[in-house]
Amino acid sequence: MDRKDFLITVGKGVFLACSGSCLLAACSTGDDGGSNVPDTNGGTGGNPVDVTVNLSDLATVGAQKTQNGVLFIRISEGETSSSFVATESLCPHQGGRLLFQGSANLIECQLHAARFEVDGGIIRGPQNSSGSVRALKIYTTTINGSSITARKA
Ligand code: FES
Repeated sequence: MDRKDFLITVGKGVFLACSGSCLLAACSTGDDGGSNVPDTNGGTGGNPVDVTVNLSDLATVGAQKTQNGVLFIRISEGETSSSFVATESLCPHQGGRLLFQGSANLIECQLHAARFEVDGGIIRGPQNSSGSVRALKIYTTTINGSSITARKA
């Protein structure tokens, strides 16, 4: 083997060793390949997120408050978790705003008028639009003093 062949052979070996270790390094940073973009629940990577509002914003039956993607609704008197519902604030169809309609005791999408029970069940799907909806997520709530917290999971 002359000097030129030796350098070519060594160069190929160095290239392969470097590219292999570089690829391994890129794959060993702890990145699971998932996205860091917040999901529709507002969390990242499926981690639960707590959203809190003051109970004074939900003082009367039928009162509602949207905060960080959560629609809080007071459905009855009292200061226990069962007096409230916390659900998604955006429709799972195409992201229309959801509002509680107290007179009918249901949640309605302001975009295509899908309707949901306060337990998240579907009453009807989108009107004058293709596609369907899934049931709304209902978040667990806890009361702490003068505030209520929903855990988006
Ligand atoms: S976005 Fe709600 S029904 Fe279409």
